[in-house]
Order: sequence, then C-alpha cells, then structure tokens
Amino acid sequence: MSDPRADDVLAPEDLHPALRKALDRVLDPELRRPVTELGMIRSAALDDAGRAAVHVLLTISGCPLRSTIEHDVREAVSTVEGVRAVAVEVGVMTPEQRTALKERVGHTRTVPFNDPSSLTRVHAVTSGKGGVGKSTVTVNLAAALAARGRSVGIVDADVHGFSVPGLLGIDRSPTQVGDMILPPVVEVPETARQDTGRAGVLKVISIGMFVDPDQPVAWRGPMLHRAVEQFLTDVHFGDLDHLFLDLPPGTGDVAISVAQLLPTAEVLVVSTPQQAAVEVAERSGALAVQTGQTVAGVIENMAGMPMPDGSVLELFGAGGGARIAESLTRRLGYEVPLLGGVPLDVALREGGDTGRPVVWSAPDSPAAAALRSVADVLGSRPLGLAGRPLGLGPR
Ligand SMILES: Nc1ncnc2c1ncn2[C@@H]1O[C@H](COP(=O)(O)OP(=O)(O)O)[C@@H](O)[C@H]1O
Ligand SMILES: [Mg+2]
Repeated sequence: MSDPRADDVLAPEDLHPALRKALDRVLDPELRRPVTELGMIRSAALDDAGRAAVHVLLTISGCPLRSTIEHDVREAVSTVEGVRAVAVEVGVMTPEQRTALKERVGHTRTVPFNDPSSLTRVHAVTSGKGGVGKSTVTVNLAAALAARGRSVGIVDADVHGFSVPGLLGIDRSPTQVGDMILPPVVEVPETARQDTGRAGVLKVISIGMFVDPDQPVAWRGPMLHRAVEQFLTDVHFGDLDHLFLDLPPGTGDVAISVAQLLPTAEVLVVSTPQQAAVEVAERSGALAVQTGQTVAGVIENMAGMPMPDGSVLELFGAGGGARIAESLTRRLGYEVPLLGGVPLDVALREGGDTGRPVVWSAPDSPAAAALRSVADVLGSRPLGLAGRPLGLGPR
C-alpha cells in the first residue's frame, strides 16, 4: 500500500462539490444513511473532459450489496451537469475506517432500546403454543407499519423454530462489520406504500441467517440467552419506530431472557379462539406478572372465516381472544384489550408461503384488513404506556 491516503477517513469536504452533492443522495442499503456521511467515498473527482472518477469503499470485501451500491453511485454521478463518463472503483475499508464508521452510526454494544431517550416501541409477540400464527401476525404487523412509512425491525427470537426469513422471502445474510451486524433490509414494494411522505423500512435478523438450514439448532439456555442478547446488542438497527420480537411459544428460556434484556417491551399475546389454546396463552401473558413487562393486548388469529354464501366458518370456535383479554385484565389489574381478530384466510397463508406478507400483496383481503387495523392501533398509541420509567431524571 503505497498510497498515503489509504487509511484516511475522508471528510465529505474533500470531494468534488457537485459530485458530493449527488452522492449525498446515495444511501447505503443497510445503514440507510448517505454514503458520503459514512466515509464510504474515498475520492470523487471530475476532470475537464467530463470524466468522473469515484472511489467507493465497501465495509467488507464480498459485500453482498456491492452491485447495488456501485449502480446507485454511478447513476447519481451521471446526473451531474457536465459529466460525460463515470468510472467507479470499488475498494474495501481498512479496520480504522470501519471503526470510524461504527462510531459515526453510534454503534455501542448495549441494548439501545433500553436507553431512556429511545423512541422505539418494542413489541414482544408471544403465544401459548406453536402453530397459532404468531410469526405470521408478527411479520404482517411489522410490514403494515413499514408500509405506513415507519422504520421497523424484527428480531426472530424463535431460535429453534425460526421462520421470519421465509415469511419475508429473505435469502441474504447480514453484513458483518467487525462486531457490528447489519440486518438485511426488506424494501416495501411501491404498490404497498401508503402515502405518508416517508419511505418505510423493514430490517430483520434471525438465527436462520447464521446456521446451516439443514441442521437443527440444538442449543440450551445459556446459548439461547447469548443469541438473543447478541441480536439486541451487536445488530445495528439504527433508529427504529417499532421493534417486534417473534418469541418462541410458551414461557421458556427465550421469553425470560427477552424480559430481562428488554424490560420495557410490551407483550402481545396471539391465540386461536380454541379453548386449549386460550388456557396456555393466558399463562404466557401472565408471565408478565413475574417479569414486570406490560401486556399491551391480545390478538385472536384463525377466527371465523367468511364463506361465499355469507356464513362464517368458525373452525376453531369463537370468543377465545376476548376470554384471554378478560382473564389477563383480572390477573394483571389493568385493562388488557382485545386488539383484533384475524380471520382464517387463504391469502394470508399463501402470502407466508411465497414470502410476501398479505398486508402488502392483498391489503384488502379480510385478514390483511384486520392486521392493518391492529397495526394502526400499535402505531398510534403514544410511547409511555409501555411501562418505561416515567419522568425520573432528565430526558
Ligand atoms: N389467519 C390465518 N389463516 C390461514 N392460515 C394461517 C393464519 N394464520 C396463520 N396461518 C398459517 O398457519 C401456519 C402457522 O402459522 P405461524 O405463523 O408459523 O405460527 P406460529 O409462529 O405461531 O408457530 C402457517 O402455515 C400460516 O401460514
Ligand atoms: Mg413461529
């Protein structure tokens, strides 16, 4: 390395002003910040013949988003007046440059969501038993809020039964920058975006992105705790409006770890209307008594399915969600509302199987409408009901 500037972390002022202005509009796909601000542009020059030369620094070699970044840089620079040709050279950051980048994005190895200044609402989605649609509900609530322009993260904390990457059609691995892990970002399709003036994002982390898909994850308590802790400390989500945790069913190790790591998380209980599911769902909600978390509400899934003749098929019975809400209200001593009932719906199941959440692909289907209305409730409630410490000390 004879280039004396190789280790420099460039300030954006060093770049050709017009090119810099164009490059300010190029966002890193994972960090969602301008590449100029992140120190990812080592040089940007324009000669008299209109030849632009841009040297981009990727965080890691073999960056899966290399071609996206290269394309976006090329496209932005080619719009600059007087540019006739664009040459993009791609290199890799030095360890010092990576450290500087981590500092710039404010990555610290603590749980950022516990910071009293955090504006992220954290929802821990739980159920008594598996197969009641907890992951499907989690993904669709998150997707509905992202379509409304919110920044949303999902931690797939169902370590043994992870399913979120499949439900969202994610086959990419996270990018690792030293001890900082950047979660894959799922773009909200144009057709699903609601006119809020903000582009929503959905960032997802799952153990499924780190393990061999054919091997079972055979981990016990301490390993599970460490995995969840790493998801919350080492994964850099950036500023989020909402974070969802898809918990494993029941009241096992992970649910307890999450309660310890995120004491201010609001618990959402998912259940089918069926009596057997109702009883175990009550128990998973009642765990909040011991952990000090707040139960924000109950979502009944697989409720009655509207039939073509106008009747409703109540495959799993009816009224279970309301019974859980009443029972938890009594046990916890505050109002635990039934937030909504999501009908059985073929479109919802198909959306999961094809990796396209139904709230995006068929937003007017009965299940999507119900899920969007629950998302509206979650998105419109003020922060502060979440059991976070109120007004003690300066904000
Ligand atoms: N309301 C619904 N209508 C039709 N199918 C559903 C509904 N909710 C969930 N499913 C399907 O039920 C199965 C289990 O859902 P899943 O979200 O994986 O449950 P859990 O996370 O609780 O184990 C999936 O195949 C999913 O597509
Ligand atoms: Mg699941």
